[in-house]
Amino acid sequence: MKKDVQIAIDGPAGSGKSTIARKLAERLNLDYIDTGAMYRAITLAAINMGIAPGDRKGIIDTAVRSRIQLRGVKVFLNGEDVSLKVRMPLVDKRVSEVASIPEVRKILVGLQRQMAARGGIVMDGRDIGTSVLPEARYKFFLTATLEERAKRRFQDLVKTNPQITLKQVMNEMERRDLLDSTRGHSPLKVADDAVVIDTTGKSIEEVLDEIMGIVGG
Ligand code: DC
Repeated sequence: MKKDVQIAIDGPAGSGKSTIARKLAERLNLDYIDTGAMYRAITLAAINMGIAPGDRKGIIDTAVRSRIQLRGVKVFLNGEDVSLKVRMPLVDKRVSEVASIPEVRKILVGLQRQMAARGGIVMDGRDIGTSVLPEARYKFFLTATLEERAKRRFQDLVKTNPQITLKQVMNEMERRDLLDSTRGHSPLKVADDAVVIDTTGKSIEEVLDEIMGIVGG
């Protein structure tokens, strides 16, 4: 495996991409970059600042002023470890709006490219193969049925929120998928040269083996 190899992993929420990307980076001894966590951190910053939904200028100002860092699997906002806070349902609810703003994307994509330039990486997101790293050596697009993706997310969320229902998670996910794939600026879509892997009914190990079979060791 070349030290400066770039592996892009895109797909909708719950497709397994973060887990797979993290494990793949471990196996190949590459850095892992979770770009979703970066959009989540800006969203959290806007929530903390009391910026209302729809206040584009407020969100852009927040993005300009926030310092986002990734260290391993952790995300830091202005020096604070916010890895847990960025998974809050309120962040889920508002992140697609934040991610649809071109000025916000420009800032984060710039950071993502800087990180990728430092060495070999596995980067996961929605637009990595199509827009952030169009020259990436390997591109994968993970999918799964809405039902399976919602079940995976539900199993995570119910641990901290026993009131939540599968139906609520499914509706929220459907809404976010629609926003992420129909926005005007770099929407979620399959890159022409990406390998599409349907993870429905497959274990993490099975998907990892499939990818390792393509990228080699
Ligand atoms: O992968 P995730 O669920 O943590 O991503 C959170 C949101 O961020 C998702 O709804 C879409 C957006 N996102 C994006 O627009 N582009 C990326 N490269 C990564 C995430």
